[in-house]
Amino acid sequence: MCGIFGYIGEKEAASILVKGLKRLEYRGYDSAGICVLNKNEVFLIKGKGSINDIYHPENFQDIKGTIGIAHTRWATHGAPNEVNAHPHADCKKEIIIIHNGIIENYSALRKILEKEDHKFLSETDSEIFAHLIEKFYSGNLEGAVSKALKLIEGTFGLVVIHKNNEEIVVAKRSSPLILGIGENEIFIASDAAPIMDYTNKVIYLEDDDIATIKKSSYSIKNLKEEEITRDVHEIKWNIDQIEKKGFKHFMLKEIFEQPEALENVLRGRIKEDLVKLTVDFDINKLNRVVITACGTSWHSALIGKHLIEKISKIPVEVDYASEFRYRNSLVNENDLMIVVSQSGETADTLAALKEAKSKNVKVLGIVNVVGSTISRMVDSGIYLHAGPEIGVASTKAFTSQVMALLLFALFIRQKKGLSLDKNLLEEISSLPKKLIEVLNKSEEIKEIAEIFKSSTNFLYLGRGINFPVALEGALKLKEISYIHAEGYPAAEMKHGPIALIDENMPVVFLATNGTVFEKVLSNIEEVRARGGRIITITDRDDSNIKRLSDYIIKVPATMEELSPIINSIPLQLLAYHIADLKGLDVDRPRNLAKSVTVE
Ligand code: M6R
Repeated sequence: MCGIFGYIGEKEAASILVKGLKRLEYRGYDSAGICVLNKNEVFLIKGKGSINDIYHPENFQDIKGTIGIAHTRWATHGAPNEVNAHPHADCKKEIIIIHNGIIENYSALRKILEKEDHKFLSETDSEIFAHLIEKFYSGNLEGAVSKALKLIEGTFGLVVIHKNNEEIVVAKRSSPLILGIGENEIFIASDAAPIMDYTNKVIYLEDDDIATIKKSSYSIKNLKEEEITRDVHEIKWNIDQIEKKGFKHFMLKEIFEQPEALENVLRGRIKEDLVKLTVDFDINKLNRVVITACGTSWHSALIGKHLIEKISKIPVEVDYASEFRYRNSLVNENDLMIVVSQSGETADTLAALKEAKSKNVKVLGIVNVVGSTISRMVDSGIYLHAGPEIGVASTKAFTSQVMALLLFALFIRQKKGLSLDKNLLEEISSLPKKLIEVLNKSEEIKEIAEIFKSSTNFLYLGRGINFPVALEGALKLKEISYIHAEGYPAAEMKHGPIALIDENMPVVFLATNGTVFEKVLSNIEEVRARGGRIITITDRDDSNIKRLSDYIIKVPATMEELSPIINSIPLQLLAYHIADLKGLDVDRPRNLAKSVTVE
């Protein structure tokens, strides 16, 4: 989703801004723009498409200036084109802004400003900021921004410069903004990725903070214009972790990082057959767990439901965060809410969290990005420590989320005074090695991808704890290959989707050992009888599977609780290879954003 980067210091800003925007590309965008200030002159370039479409080194070589702001836009109000791309300027072209978020009362504000003769060029809600700040500006940029913010309903990560001022003013509400503190230079960004090239010292701004930034100093105020202080944090990961390290795509690299990611989520959390977590709630009052999330994280939540109910015997409800937030859910202080989010910035998940907190529900976060908004708002949390996930399609975060939910299930069981299954604990520790075995099948899976890359539809079928894996496999394929795919509980197929099955329909079955293996086998028979083409993920040497399947992807045997983690890997690889063989931009699929910060 939209990305923000800004620089103020002693170096030429233009090349720093371009590099920063490239670091933000993974968030997904459809247009971009850059503005550099040089001795009261404004250089502004923006347009539709990728940064490489907009940025031509020959246009940039003469651009001098050590203050600049840059933006990648993911269209909400108005089509992706040059006019709607950020930055936006006021009528006099003196005040330049970039904005992430949504101004809900923009129509009303635009009407008022138009009556006052402000001329709008774009269809965006964001341009309001430029004109509103212009209206209030009389030499004090921070003061004008503060007055403008008082009229805004909605969310913002806002960055503002004035051509005559050697400063950048920023403000935030429900849209992340980070300051990177360097030596005689300060960076502003919507996430840490573009800052990490220069410094690991960061300040996470809080809602309604307004910061005025000069090259070697900054001040932060609240909306009442009182000075406030924010801690400087040190980011622990380094720039190597956001490089491709020889892999063709970030997604492939991240798929292959899963054994290590699992080790990281487990590190220090199982000791002497006990699960160690720091989770803030009262086990004696716990009636129910409610998990909310979006997309892939919602799929891991569904697997979490199976695990928590089976292992800890506590009932679990799983809700899409976007549904939970508006349905007046009957949660109360005897519930525990878990929010699952890779980015920790997803707008709907954040809103669900706030809704739960307003009803005195304790919230536990399962989050990957350290310091993200969700991670700072929850009562307690389990960080995934999976490292930065750059590919838009979530992979290593998903399997790490499942592991975190499993740890939580074991932790609750332990808190209830019940013994933990030693076999399961042992199997958990041997899982990273088993993932390597599956990853070694990448070329074999690529051959299957070659056969099916021109298919226009796919069905993914699984049962029990592997039904959400079917959903996730279908989502991965849709997201990056643009092939229509559906995930279903295998038994539901005969209630409708079976009508779709013919010799052109590839059906991927999850048929690993477990309580429903025989049942899945019957579902495979049903597809075979109708001529569907069957790809089976299995850990069994089963003669029926061999007879019924066109292609088999053999995975190492594990316990049923852990099968979703193993079974997800071949599905990720299948989606990856199909998309890559189709020549698609795997890491930046069309229309998608890595972190969805609008509802
Ligand atoms: O950062 P989050 O986990 O909160 O993101 C939720 C979804 O937007 C995300 O999982 C999305 O579905 C991914 N593109 C899946 O690959």
